[in-house]
Formats: sequence, structure tokens, C-alpha cells
Amino acid sequence: MTRLLLVEDDASVRSTLSTFLELEGFQVEAAASSEAAFHKLASEPFPLVLSDIYLDSRTGLDILEEAKRRNPNCMVVLMTGRGSMETVVAATRGGAFDYVAKPFDLDDILSVLRRAIAARDADDAIAEEDDLPESEMIGSSAPMVEVYKTLSRVAPTDTTVLIEGETGTGKEVVARLIHRNSGRAAMPFEPVDCGSVAATLLESELFGAMRGSYTGADRDRIGLLEAANKGTAFLDEVGDIEPGFQLKLLRFLQEREIRPLGASKSRKVDVRVIAASNKNLDGLVREGKFREDLFFRLNVVRIELPPLRTRRGDVMLLAHFFLNKYNDRYGTETRFHPSAAPVLESFAWPGNVRQLQHLIERLTILAEDKRIRAQDVDRALRHPVEASSISESLADKEAEQIQRVLQATAGNKAKAARILGIERKTLYRKLAKI
Ligand SMILES: Nc1ncnc2c1ncn2[C@@H]1O[C@H](COP(=O)(O)OP(=O)(O)OP(=O)(O)O)[C@@H](O)[C@H]1O
Ligand SMILES: [Mg+2]
Repeated sequence: MTRLLLVEDDASVRSTLSTFLELEGFQVEAAASSEAAFHKLASEPFPLVLSDIYLDSRTGLDILEEAKRRNPNCMVVLMTGRGSMETVVAATRGGAFDYVAKPFDLDDILSVLRRAIAARDADDAIAEEDDLPESEMIGSSAPMVEVYKTLSRVAPTDTTVLIEGETGTGKEVVARLIHRNSGRAAMPFEPVDCGSVAATLLESELFGAMRGSYTGADRDRIGLLEAANKGTAFLDEVGDIEPGFQLKLLRFLQEREIRPLGASKSRKVDVRVIAASNKNLDGLVREGKFREDLFFRLNVVRIELPPLRTRRGDVMLLAHFFLNKYNDRYGTETRFHPSAAPVLESFAWPGNVRQLQHLIERLTILAEDKRIRAQDVDRALRHPVEASSISESLADKEAEQIQRVLQATAGNKAKAARILGIERKTLYRKLAKI
């Protein structure tokens, strides 16, 4: 259940929102004034704040600042009836996640809040993921050989490439390889995750904004497409782009010009575009969720990455590659017992190569007598860590595993939680008991 601080001076709006959000599973703390809100923020950090902009002597922007000061990871959503471009942009610059204009639909509020929570989780995931994608691709199955062929043919050209594949199949690895094997290799590679940037921010993120284009814009902000000039822009999760913005992106792909927010003229940029999606774009086009003309612009060359379960012959190649990597990193000497391979090869890998990689990282550290056996794989796939505290000996074992991983990560708890396959707060809870 997510705790949420609701700041709203209008009593009827406040009670409607409280009731509605509680029904939707939030634990709501309501504040009727900025003073009450500051008070609550001082007494406990909130993960999520929903605040009106026009309050009293202080505004939602002050709430935003204070919430972020108390908890930099706090997600703040602002709402107002008197929305002006200035406040919106000042709010987003101050780090607000998004902004809703009154009168609003309760369902709209809910979807913005849900996106805020998802974005927060994604941020956490990035903070924990210190690994850059691999710079080489492992796999010698027939579909991967086809991928390599297309990759080497298309890389040196300036062609737009669309990469499709389930999560964890290596889309970002392919995008980086294309860039690195192109004439643009010495120039920037700029990735942008179109799915996690709030719709209202994507435009300035991609196209930039001019000094003075909004309150507090004391300098020009360079958009990613300009930063990628002469290099490559990687538009990740393009399938998540909202219809309104799809048209702007289409225009960019046609004209190769950008116009930053507040700029009077467009400028030419020379950017190669690589797009990726884990949703099938054809399908989105058929459902009417993705513009067909944009799809055609992106789908000049398509690379489809096969799920790991359709190329079982690659599983042990990858497993050994990751085992070597993590043995090097953690100074371990773990090996596979022959019984491990059949279990690894027959698993369905819904998270594809990423899931296999994380599993091998964990097993490399935790292997007893330096061997990864069938039952270790089996257990790790079924339970993140040892089933918790069913018996004393299991609890001991779990504590020992946690300590080993913490040692390997030099005490980095976020990383340890990722390796153990549990949430950070679960790790804290378990640590408190050790
Ligand atoms: N063929 C491969 N060889 C080696 N490592 C790989 C391969 N494919 C994927 N990986 C590794 O798996 C992880 C996930 O890859 P990547 O981030 O490219 O996936 P993705 O398709 O972009 O996933 P998502 O849709 O979830 O963003 C990375 O750590 C990457 O290095
Ligand atoms: Mg990706």
C-alpha cells in the first residue's frame, strides 16, 4: 500500500479525493493547508505527494520543493484550476512528476499516480543496475546468426532501425552495437526511455527548451536529439509514446529538424534514429494505438530478437559467459555441475537473457563448495532467497546467504537486494532480524 500526502485546501475536493484514493488502495494523509503539509513532511518522508498548486501564502511549488528536500525520491503530482504554461513548466523543472488540470477526472488522477509509482520503481531499478549492457552478443543459434547478419549489413548505413523483442532479449545491446559499428561511433549515443518520461516532459527532453521559455528557465536546455547530433538517438519503448506526441516525432523523422520549446526557428540536426519496443508495433497499429505513418518511418529495417526459450542452445553459452564475468568480478571460482545444464535449458525464461544473467550472478556468489547444481538452480528459480524462516535452520541459511551477498557487493544493499532477487525493503526487514 503506497502512502500518499494529499494537500488540498478545498474541503470537498479533499474529501472526495481522500475517499476515492483510499478505495483505490492508497494510504492517504490529508493536509488542508501548506502549514499542515510542511508539518507532515517533517514528521515522516512520503513516497508520493498530490498537491494543489494554489493554496495560501505558500503554493504547491513550495510543497514540491520541501517534499523533494525531505525525500529526493518523492514523486510529486500537482493539480490546479488556474493552470498556466509558466506554472506547469516551473513545476516540472522543480522535479514534479506530472501535472493535472482541474476539473479532472478521478481516473486521470489515478493513472497519473500509478505512472508516478511505476517511474519511481524504474528509477530504483536504474540505481541498482550498475551494469552497462554487454558490449558483445553471445549466442550462435540460427535466429541470432540472422540478427548478426542484419546488424552488420545495416550498421554502417544511416538507416533507421526498429528493434523488437521481449524484455531482456538484448535490444539495447543491439542498438549500441549498431552505433559502435557505424561511422558515427566517435559521436554520442543518446538513449531516451520514452516509456518512463512523463508525456508532458518528453517534448522538452527530446527537442530542448530555450532560456526564458518559462519561469526559471535561466539557460537553454539542449534536447536529446540535438545532443545526439552527428551521432545516434536511441528511442527506447517507442510503443509507449502518446498519440499526440507521435505526430511530433513523425514530423521530426520527416524533416530532421527540431524546434526547442520557446524557440522561434527550427534547426537541422543530423541524427541516426534507432527505436526499440517490447510491444509488437504492428499490433499497436492494428489496435489504433500507434500511427501507421510513424510506424513506416521507423520500420525501415527491423530486427526481431528471439526470446531465449526459442533458442535453448544459447542458454549454456550465455550461462558460461556470465559465470566467467561474475567469477572475475567477485573473485570466486564457481563452476557448473553437469546436472545444472538441463534445468537451465528447460526453463521458460520470461525475463530472457537479463533474468538468466541475474540468476547466474546470484548463484556465482552463493554456490556452496563452488559448484552450481541442479537443485541450486531449481531453488533459486522458485524462491528469491531461501523460503523465509520456516525453520530455524532455514532462517540461519538465509542470513548466511544475505551476508555473503552483502560481502560480495561491499555492503551495497540496493545491489545485494537485486542479486538476491528481493525488494530492498524486504532486505532491510530481514537484516533487522539478523
Ligand atoms: N545476446 C546477449 N549476449 C550477452 N548479453 C546479453 C545478450 N542479450 C542481452 N544481454 C544482457 O541482458 C541484459 C538485458 O539486455 P537489454 O537491456 O539489451 O534488454 P532489452 O531488450 O533492452 O530489455 P528491456 O525491454 O527490458 O529494456 C543486459 O545486461 C545485456 O547485457
Ligand atoms: Mg531496454
